[in-house]
Amino acid sequence: MEGINFPLNISRPEMFEFEGIFMDHYFTDTWEKTQKFQARPDDILVATYPKAGTTWVSYILDLLYFGNTAPERQTDLPIYLRVPFLEASFPGMPSGVELADTLPTTPRIIKTHLPVQLIPKSFWEQNCRIVYVARNAKDNVVSYYHFDRMNMGEPEPGDWNTFLQTFMEGKKVFGPWYDHVCGYWEKKRTYSNIHYMFFEDMVEDTGREVERLCSFLGLSTPIEERERITKGTHFDAMKKNNMTNYSTVPIMDFNVSPFMRKGKVGDWKNHFTVAQNEQFDELYKQKMKNTSLQFRTEI
Ligand code: PPS
Repeated sequence: MEGINFPLNISRPEMFEFEGIFMDHYFTDTWEKTQKFQARPDDILVATYPKAGTTWVSYILDLLYFGNTAPERQTDLPIYLRVPFLEASFPGMPSGVELADTLPTTPRIIKTHLPVQLIPKSFWEQNCRIVYVARNAKDNVVSYYHFDRMNMGEPEPGDWNTFLQTFMEGKKVFGPWYDHVCGYWEKKRTYSNIHYMFFEDMVEDTGREVERLCSFLGLSTPIEERERITKGTHFDAMKKNNMTNYSTVPIMDFNVSPFMRKGKVGDWKNHFTVAQNEQFDELYKQKMKNTSLQFRTEI
């Protein structure tokens, strides 16, 4: 891949407090450039807490816009080059800002995990469309745990119980899950260009969610095309597809855990003990007491 020269091993970063949340330096090294990023009115921002379905929705959007017009993208370009990760700067590849600035597509589809209060201001000024994907906290933390185990670009996860405790305390890269999902939910009241999606709805009926996405984006994609996209973005298809399964990234050790791991709702039941579940539910009630946002932990 042109311009990409991944190092085979990098050291796990430390976490530190930054702008009111926890971060690691891979997401703060280009902070000024990220904050000064010039969005364009037709940019589409895919915003999520890590491990909530970013890659899935990014791939759907890429196919909706460019599946027919630029089929070579599907075979030559991994998803992380088609949909740049705005705040990221990893050794061996251009930063997210550089990738976004040089994206030849219209619209540009751009990924971020930043909480709503840290989104670069030009996205708001340009009234960009934002597709937010949220996933229930229990499955989200399980997915995040396995990701951090296998990805050398992430801080040391510790064991499952340690990871869960620090997640509950909000001490994870990109901050507390609770504030992230609620932040965008509240923003929707005053900013109508946010389409708020749920991972669980996607698993339950991907076709319906693709249709809703099209109507938010003003796309009149024919049903046959939507069905093709729904099929092509199924978990099994994405897991096999080297352009969407992250197998081209050497800092991820798939022997520990694959990027496309399970893609299910309810896998948390295989991880939480009864005691962990009770403690989690207790805290969850407090943290989420002021929001109308509701999640499903099973479907
Ligand atoms: S990242 O690293 O934050 O961008 O990860 P992200 O893409 O947000 O989340 C990865 C999880 O999403 C699952 N996934 C899917 N599930 C069902 N169907 C499809 N098509 C799909 N694509 C990605 C992926 O398997 C990760 O979840 P877990 O629970 O770990 O399997």
